[in-house]
Amino acid sequence: MTVHFIGAGPGAPDLLTLRGRDLIAACPVCLYAGSLVPEAILGHCPEGAKIVNTAPMDLDAIIEEIKAAHAAGQDVARLHSGDLSVWSAMGEQIRRLRAEGIPFTVTPGVPAFAAAAASLGTELTLPGLGQSVILTRTQGRASSMPEGETLENFGRTGATLALHLSIGNLPKVVRELTPHYGPDCPVAIVYRASWPDEKIVRATLSTLEAATPGDVKRTALILVGPALAGEGFTESRLYAADYDRRYRPQTADSPWSEWRHGDD
Ligand SMILES: C[S@@+](CC[C@H](N)C(=O)[O-])C[C@H]1O[C@@H](n2cnc3c(N)ncnc32)[C@H](O)[C@@H]1O
Repeated sequence: MTVHFIGAGPGAPDLLTLRGRDLIAACPVCLYAGSLVPEAILGHCPEGAKIVNTAPMDLDAIIEEIKAAHAAGQDVARLHSGDLSVWSAMGEQIRRLRAEGIPFTVTPGVPAFAAAAASLGTELTLPGLGQSVILTRTQGRASSMPEGETLENFGRTGATLALHLSIGNLPKVVRELTPHYGPDCPVAIVYRASWPDEKIVRATLSTLEAATPGDVKRTALILVGPALAGEGFTESRLYAADYDRRYRPQTADSPWSEWRHGDD
């Protein structure tokens, strides 16, 4: 018996990996985080599967469900939205499973920040504008932030920020980032990226609050940084015609020629 943690993606049911789909189809028990995992993905469960929405359950109750499946020798598909590496609560479940000696696997999913960038049709790292993306959040009711992980500190880097779980803190975001990025810094909000009711707001730090519709209250990403402009950047050297590189040595005596024809 194994618990398969599966990243269910940002919302669109076809933004699920083939591995995730096949695991869901093979598991007689499916536990899903109902607040964000789309119901359509549950259509991959086998007929007669036990399907449990864990949104109203606490951690103890979730582990009890898993232990019951373990005792019955039934594999479990455990679905969380997006990818499991960020804000999935997988860590605390894995710690319990290890203590119980219950085996697990992890299958990644499309994270919300990648889906949001796709909806914007943008690259978050653009030469000369931003070469780092910081995935972070602001403090919420349930989670405090470690000292040092402040908007002010991240703002000092000038990197592209992908702010999760923060749409309720918009005034704070604007107030604390403006001194670092400037009022004209481009910002985008993507609400429910890849869902049918997705909304996109493009603004600057100074116009963001007025530009954000009142119904954009949850499940939204705030992206901040010069790269959001999508212009004013240099082309990468990678595809420059004269760039000597492993896959495109420019001369016979290029260090890369040997690699290309050698045994690496
Ligand atoms: C609990 S976190 C889950 C993050 C998820 N594990 C991931 O990989 O993106 C929930 C937050 O992720 C962001 N989020 C999740 N799905 C989203 C979507 N479809 N569109 C925009 N933001 C989303 C929002 O900031 C939301 O408040």
